[in-house]
Amino acid sequence: MFENENIIRNSTVDCILSRRSVRAYKDEPLTAAQLETVLYAGLWAPSGRNSQPLTVRALTGKDRLDALNADFWRTVGPDAKPYSRCDVNPVYQTAPALILMFSESGAFTDAGIAAENMALAAKSLGLGSVIIASVGALFDGEYASKWKKTLEVPEEMRFLLAVAVGVPDEDPPVKPRDAGKYRIIGE
Ligand SMILES: Cc1cc2nc3c(=O)[nH]c(=O)nc-3n(C[C@H](O)[C@H](O)[C@H](O)COP(=O)(O)O)c2cc1C
Repeated sequence: MFENENIIRNSTVDCILSRRSVRAYKDEPLTAAQLETVLYAGLWAPSGRNSQPLTVRALTGKDRLDALNADFWRTVGPDAKPYSRCDVNPVYQTAPALILMFSESGAFTDAGIAAENMALAAKSLGLGSVIIASVGALFDGEYASKWKKTLEVPEEMRFLLAVAVGVPDEDPPVKPRDAGKYRIIGE
C-alpha cells in the first residue's frame, strides 16, 4: 500500500506533499494579491449543503498581531503550553497575516476544509502557512468581545480555526505519515 511508484505525481499532488507547517516567517508583508488569492481559495472551499457558514477575517500589521498575542497570553496565563514553539513564538507564529474563521454554529469541518484550501494555495504561491487552533483560547476569555469588535465579527459568533500565512524563513523537516492507517478494502 502506498508504494512510491504507485503515487501519481502532478502539480496538485506535489503541492499537497510538499506543504509543511511553517513557524518562522520573514518580516515582509504579503502583497494584496497574495493575501486575496489565499482568502479566495478559502472562499471556494466546499461547505456542507453549500451553507457557506464561515465569516473570515485576515488580521495584518505587526502592532495588531502583537496586541492579539499579548491578550492571548493574558488569557491563557504565562505557564500555558498552547502549542509548538509557544516558548519562543507569538501565537501567530511570526507570520505577517493571521486569517481567523468564525461561524454562528460549530462549522469546524467547513473551517478545516477552508484552512487546507488556503494552506495549499499559499504553498502554490511560494508562501508558507500554519493552521492554528490554539488562538481559540483568546475567544473563550475576557478579551473575546474586544477582539470580535476589532475584527468586525458579531459577538454571538464562535471562533473555529485560524491560518497564519507569510513568506517562509525556514524549511521545516518532513513529519512522516503513518500509511498503515489507510487501507483499501476490496479489489
Ligand atoms: C486542526 C489543526 C490545528 C492546529 N493547531 C496548531 C496550533 O495551534 N499551533 C501550531 O503551531 N500548529 C498547529 N497545527 C499544525 C500541526 O501541528 C501540523 O499540521 C502537524 O504537526 C503536521 O505537520 P505539517 O503540517 O508540517 O505536516 C494545527 C493543525 C491542524 C490540522
